[in-house]
Amino acid sequence: MKKLAAGNWKMNGSLAALTQVDALIAAEPAPECEMLLCPPATLIAPMTARAKGSRLWVGAQDCHAKAAGAHTGDLSAAMLVDAGASHVILGHSERRADHGESSELVRQKAEAALAAGLIAIVCIGETEAERDAGETLAVIGGQLDASVPAAATAANLVVAYEPVWAIGTGRTPTLAQIAEVHRFLRDRLGQNIGAEAAGVRLLYGGSVKPSNAAEIFALPDVDGALVGGASLKADDFAAIVAALSAA
Ligand code: 13P
Repeated sequence: MKKLAAGNWKMNGSLAALTQVDALIAAEPAPECEMLLCPPATLIAPMTARAKGSRLWVGAQDCHAKAAGAHTGDLSAAMLVDAGASHVILGHSERRADHGESSELVRQKAEAALAAGLIAIVCIGETEAERDAGETLAVIGGQLDASVPAAATAANLVVAYEPVWAIGTGRTPTLAQIAEVHRFLRDRLGQNIGAEAAGVRLLYGGSVKPSNAAEIFALPDVDGALVGGASLKADDFAAIVAALSAA
């Protein structure tokens, strides 16, 4: 299994920001792992052109569940492939919160992504209230069961555990908490997709930065990271990628 360092630019970035891609590629930080950036959809094609010939993959942040049709403002998985995307983030907590996306819808989107040949990065995570109530494993187990397509394999599925309260806050779970959740996810995924679960990359996301990356990547069943804010700066993301490569 190749580990994966993925960056989620969210609603940030412009053509001018693609100089960060040049700097990241020049830093060559990832001999032992895969490196992915998911910019806003407007930048998928130009970032793909910029990354040509490098080991940087380019992905999307969402897709529609349908292949085509009257869905103003939406993008199909095939359109993302056409623009150069190899991966798509699905079910990010910001989309679940801002757009009311259910796990059932996330699974339909993931099925569309797999049908189009994209690798689906399915996101799950508990809120702070759910963690305080001792419901973390029940919540993420339910999200996982309902969001992951039955046809998912180690080759076309990545799961990202992103505690909602750790996103953009500078706070992270303890290492023991991350390890507990990732072990649980590996087992639960096995109940859903069988032996393929052993090879699915399980990413941690939420306030990953150069200073905490190495200790997180040293944990069992942590196969990479989904990085928000720190992926916008080439130096920070390169340092995180280098930490994963060394893990
Ligand atoms: P931050 O790294 O900014 O906390 O964001 C994490 C995230 O939501 C990645 O998808």
